[in-house]
Amino acid sequence: MKILVINGPNLNMLGIREPEIYGKMTLDQLNEKVDEAGKALLLDIEFFQSNHEGAIIDKIQAAYGKMDGIIINPGAYSHYSYAIRDALKSVDIKTVEVHLSDISNREYFRKTSVIEEVVAKQISGKGINSYIEALHYLKEHLK
Ligand code: DQA
Repeated sequence: MKILVINGPNLNMLGIREPEIYGKMTLDQLNEKVDEAGKALLLDIEFFQSNHEGAIIDKIQAAYGKMDGIIINPGAYSHYSYAIRDALKSVDIKTVEVHLSDISNREYFRKTSVIEEVVAKQISGKGINSYIEALHYLKEHLK
């Protein structure tokens, strides 16, 4: 079972960026732990990070017919990228939207995700466990 994990803008700055909100773990460390959890579930995971909306859309489109599931943390694009939403809807791959922080409990503009409606599940506010829970969800629902 092949899973694509996409991290959007500024998530390459994990460890440096607002550690009181996002924690001290770097993206490489996070990916390593997610990969370990994925291996234990016999999932084959590919990781991708970009700060660019178009690059994220290209990656989602390239997943069509190749990936069984997607886990995406679209970063701030979550709140306004109709283009990423449309891309996810186009490929119709079971997707979980994840957030490290609890987007329902922060600034007003973060409360809305334009992605949420087109994904199977949103998991928010659990740090790295948002990703791990997403793996378990996909493992369970992609049978
Ligand atoms: C985030 C929440 C977003 O609002 C923010 O723009 C991010 C990270 C999270 O993982 O908590 O970049 O997606």
